[in-house]
Amino acid sequence: MSKDKASSFTARLEATARDVAALLESMLSGTLLDGEIARPDELMGAMRHGVLNGGKRLRPFLVIETARLLGAPELAACRVAAALECIHCYSLIHDDLPAMDDDSLRRGQPTVHIAFDEATAILAGDALLTLAFDILSSPETVLPAEAKLKLVNQLARAAGVGGMVGGQSLDLNAERIAPDEAGIVRLQAMKTGALLRYACAAGALAAGVDEQVLARMTRFGEIIGLAFQLADDLLDVTSDAATLGKAAGKDAGRGKATWVSLHGVAAARHRLDQLVAEAALLLEPFGDEAETLRQAAGFIASREH
Ligand code: IPE
Ligand code: IPE
Ligand code: MG
Ligand code: MG
Ligand code: MG
Repeated sequence: MSKDKASSFTARLEATARDVAALLESMLSGTLLDGEIARPDELMGAMRHGVLNGGKRLRPFLVIETARLLGAPELAACRVAAALECIHCYSLIHDDLPAMDDDSLRRGQPTVHIAFDEATAILAGDALLTLAFDILSSPETVLPAEAKLKLVNQLARAAGVGGMVGGQSLDLNAERIAPDEAGIVRLQAMKTGALLRYACAAGALAAGVDEQVLARMTRFGEIIGLAFQLADDLLDVTSDAATLGKAAGKDAGRGKATWVSLHGVAAARHRLDQLVAEAALLLEPFGDEAETLRQAAGFIASREH
C-alpha cells in the first residue's frame, strides 16, 4: 500500500472509530430505556471503562464498510456495529480476568477488574453481552424484521458456545494440552474468527443481499478472522507492551500453543501474506468499490498494535 493510501485508510478507520464511540457513549449514558428500573453507577462506570477506552473498533469498521459496499442503511449499520463492539469489549473484560489471562493492562489502561474489582468486571461483561442484543433488537435499529432476526440469531451463534465463548474454552485447554495445527486453526476461528466473520456477514445481512453475496462476504470475514488472530499471536512474540497497550510475551509465558509457536515468525508472516491475497481475491467481483475492505485486510495483517 502506498503511503498516501495508508494514511487515508487510517484516517477513515479513525473517523469510523469516533462515530462508533459517540454512539456507544450515548448508549452507555445514565438515561434509562423503557422497562429499565435503574442503571447502577458502579456497574455503568465499569462498562464505560471497558468500552470507551480507545479500541481500534475494527469489527465496527468491517460492519460499516461491508454495509456501505452493499448498500445497507448507514444508521442501522452503525447500530449493528455498536452491538458487535459491546460483545467484543465484554469478551476482552472477561479474557483479562485473573481466572483467564490475568492481565492488568488493556488499551493502555488498567483492565476493568483492576480499575474496579473482579465481581464488577464480571457483571460489566454480562451487562455488555445483553446490551448488544438490546441494541440489535431495539425499534431504533431500523431494518426489515427478517434481517434483524437473522442478525440477532447469527450474533448469538458467533458469540456463544460454538463461537467466541467456545473458542475461549478451547484456548484455555490449549495451555494444558497442546493442540495440533488443525486444533489451533479451529480454536482461533472460534475465539477471534467468529466475531470478525459476523462483522462482514452482518453488513451483508443488513443490506439484504442474496445468498451468494452473503456467502462471499462471510468467507471474506473468515479469512480476515484467521489473519487477525495470527497477527495477534505474532505481535505477542515480536512487540512490546508500550506499543500494544497490553502485555506482550504472554502466550509463551503461559505455554500456550499458537500457530506462531508451531511454525515460527517467518512462516507466520508468509501465511499472513497468503491470507491477505485470498481475502483480496474474494473482493474482486466488487472492483474498486471494495478498495477500503481490501485495505482493511492488509491492515489487519500488518498492524502494529
Ligand atoms: C484483541 O482485539 C483481542 C483479540 C481478539 C485478539 P483487538 O486487537 O481488536 O482489540 P482492540 O479492540 O483494538 O483493543
Ligand atoms: C482473546 O485472545 C480473544 C477474545 C477476547 C475472545 P487473546 O487472549 O490472545 O487476546 P489478547 O492478546 O489478550 O488481546
Ligand atoms: Mg485469551
Ligand atoms: Mg488475552
Ligand atoms: Mg493475544
